[in-house]
Amino acid sequence: MDIQKKLLPKSHRKEHPRDESKLGFGDIYTDHIFKMDYYDGKWQNPRIEPFSPFQLSPAAMVLHYSQTIFEGLKCYRHPDGRLAMFRPSENLKRFNQSAQRMAIPLTDPVFLLDALKELLRIEGDWTPTHPGSSLYIRPTIIATEPHLGVRPSREYLLFILLAPVGPYYPEGFAPVKIYVESFYSRSAPGGLGAIKAGASYATSLLATDNAAKKGFTQLLWLDACHHRYVEEVGSMNICFVIENKIVTSNLTGTVLPGITRSSLITVAKDLGIEVQERPLEIGEVLEARSSGKLTEVFGTGTAAVISPVGLLSYNDEDLVIGDGGVGPITQKLYDELVGVQYGHKPDTRGWIEFVD
Ligand code: COI
Repeated sequence: MDIQKKLLPKSHRKEHPRDESKLGFGDIYTDHIFKMDYYDGKWQNPRIEPFSPFQLSPAAMVLHYSQTIFEGLKCYRHPDGRLAMFRPSENLKRFNQSAQRMAIPLTDPVFLLDALKELLRIEGDWTPTHPGSSLYIRPTIIATEPHLGVRPSREYLLFILLAPVGPYYPEGFAPVKIYVESFYSRSAPGGLGAIKAGASYATSLLATDNAAKKGFTQLLWLDACHHRYVEEVGSMNICFVIENKIVTSNLTGTVLPGITRSSLITVAKDLGIEVQERPLEIGEVLEARSSGKLTEVFGTGTAAVISPVGLLSYNDEDLVIGDGGVGPITQKLYDELVGVQYGHKPDTRGWIEFVD
C-alpha cells in the first residue's frame, strides 16, 4: 500500500521545545501523524497528514464500549546522529495480540514498521537529545463505527502519534514511593491484563489517584483473586532482588508481557545475574525484607525504562527498601539497557532498528 502524504509547509510547522530538560511526558506532539482506516473488511488509505483533532460521531463505539488498544515505544538519537528505535517489531507483534483480544482486525506489522519509519523520516528532527529524553511513539486503534449495540465495530481508525518526552516520573531515575493496593484490582484471569487496552489503564485510575493523594507515586498491584501475589507496579512490570537474584512475576495472563521486562531478563542473564519468573507472594517480599534478603525493587516499562522503588507501603506500614537509594543491580541493568538504547553501548543482540 502506498502512503499518501499531505505535509505542512515548513513555515507552518511548530517551534520545537526550547528547553529539552523540561519536556515532561506526553504533552507535546509533533507536526504530523500517520493514519489508516478500516472499513469494508480491510485496512486502507494509509496516510501521513498534519496533526489535528479528529471528527468522530458521538455514537462512535470507542466512546461507549472502549474498544481501543495502543502501544508505546521510543526512538532515540544516537551519537552518530542516526535515529534508532528499540525493538519496534516486538511492539507491533504485541499490538496484534491486543487487537485479537479486543476483537479488532489485525494489522500487518511489516507494513506498520515501514509506515513508522516513513513518519520518522519526516518528523525525526523532533527527537530530543537531552539525557533521558526520547521521541515516544504511540500507535493506537479506535473503534469508529457509529453504533450502540454491543458488538465489535466494523470500522476503525489506526493512528501513530509522536511526542518528544523526558522522564516519565518527575523523580527521573530516583527511587519512588509505592503503595501496595490490597482492595482494588488491575486485572483478573481471562481479562485484559496481558494486553494494552485503554480499559485496563482506566481501571487503575481511581486507586492510583487515592495513592497519589497519600503521597505515593504509584501502586503495587496484587492478584485479583487473593490479593496475595505481586503482579505489576503502576503501568510497569516489577522486579525484586532477593539474595542477589531477580524475582519477577511470571506471565500468567494477568501481567503485561513487557518488552523492557523481557530485555532486562536477557541483559541480567548476560551479566550473570540469576532471574526467576515465578509467583511471588507479598508475604515472601515482607519476610525477605525483614531478614535483609530483599535489597532492591524496581519497575520496568517503556516509558520509565527502569524506575527504582525506595519504599513500599503495606497495611499502613512504610517499608524502606535497602537504603532507600538506587541499588547496584538496578544501576547495572539501567546502565546497560539505556546504554544500548542511546547508542553508548554496542547493540550485540540486534535490538536497535535504525531509520535510514
Ligand atoms: C510503559 O511504560 O510501558 C507504559 O505502559 C506506560 C504508558 C502507559 C505511559
